Amino acid sequence: MFSYLDHLECTQCGKTYPHTELQKTSPCCDKVLFARYDLPRLRRDLDRSVFASRPDNMWRFSELLPVLQPEYVLTLGEGGTPLLKAGNLAKKLGLRSLFIKEEGLNPTGTFKARGIAAAVSKAQELGVTGFTMPSAGNAAGAAATYCARAGLPVKVFMPKDAPLSNQKESVMAGSELNLVDGLIGDAGRIAVAVAEEQHLFDLSTLKEPYRAEGKKTMGLEIALQLGWKMPDAIIYPTGGGTGIIGMYKAFQELLQLGWIEGRQPKFIAVQPEGCQPIVRAFQEGKETSQAWANATTLADGLRVPHPFADYLILDAIRKTGGTALAVDDPSMVDAMYEIAASEGIIACPEGAATLVGLKRLLVDGFLSPDETIVLLNTGSGYKYLDLIQVSARNTA
Ligand SMILES: Cc1ncc(COP(=O)(O)O)c(C=O)c1O
Ligand SMILES: [Zn+2]
Repeated sequence: MFSYLDHLECTQCGKTYPHTELQKTSPCCDKVLFARYDLPRLRRDLDRSVFASRPDNMWRFSELLPVLQPEYVLTLGEGGTPLLKAGNLAKKLGLRSLFIKEEGLNPTGTFKARGIAAAVSKAQELGVTGFTMPSAGNAAGAAATYCARAGLPVKVFMPKDAPLSNQKESVMAGSELNLVDGLIGDAGRIAVAVAEEQHLFDLSTLKEPYRAEGKKTMGLEIALQLGWKMPDAIIYPTGGGTGIIGMYKAFQELLQLGWIEGRQPKFIAVQPEGCQPIVRAFQEGKETSQAWANATTLADGLRVPHPFADYLILDAIRKTGGTALAVDDPSMVDAMYEIAASEGIIACPEGAATLVGLKRLLVDGFLSPDETIVLLNTGSGYKYLDLIQVSARNTA
């Protein structure tokens, strides 16, 4: 059991690079580099049945993860989250088969733990000794904890109005917290400049190859949990889009390995009305997005005005026959109540947005009641309890 990583590949032009060197974006096109594995060899060597018997965390898929030597794996127990049947919501909505992938059970309470565990482990293996990390909030908290575990310093950069829970977890875990007067893009520019100046490695999502690999494990787990089947649709709250990109890649790899068959699920991106660059680009038939002006939403993780990997998100949505739609902030908060009251899941506003999207797509007829649908709850609502106290719902 260990990695079948083979090389890195530019997602724009296909040029390849060795994985033995530290890489950021592709030197040829300044686009996302993807990790590529020796899938034919893995297919010969391994039967998919081995995965079910391994410990239930994301490293059970180590052959399809980038870390070469087990001693570099940093873990806080990320992954292995339940795919919960949402029977009460399904009944209410007249659906046959609805699931919620409950990512709130990850270390630091969000799916960000997966990507950060993969990226920090791999960077450490390649000799990195310090990091910068721009983030809407949750990824910074995750980076702070994994870097603490690695015994390596990290300087995190987040918008000054990022959730206090994220600021506090970063400080607790000993990272250097920098609050930026701006949005994630501004935090990113500062983080890159500081990284260059101080010889640190910048962990911006999709600007290094391995955070997407960690997020890919959500797709691998969903397939395993459904008995090596893909659902018909996955509804995903989309900011930078790493989750969609990672899961689409996961299913591609599983199809190439012959471990699953059939069609990829329709990927459905939900964004807030106040920041919907992917929805706009999708509706206009564009291959890339334009920056969303004056981005504002209470779902901080979705306040990404100009996703770096927009072309990959849009490609995954279109190739799978998916769609993109925007929902308003109050409806997300209402959906937090509804998911908790119907299923006992305390979801984050981003995750709750997927229920709002689902309802709309059922009314529109885009999704049908006999499909197997997965909602991605990307994080725990326990990080957002202040939102519940100030919501309109309490005064209604
Ligand atoms: C809770 C939560 N959900 C969703 C997202 C968006 O994730 P992605 O970059 O994969 O689109 C974020 C990103 O910060 C987040 O914190
Ligand atoms: Zn290229």
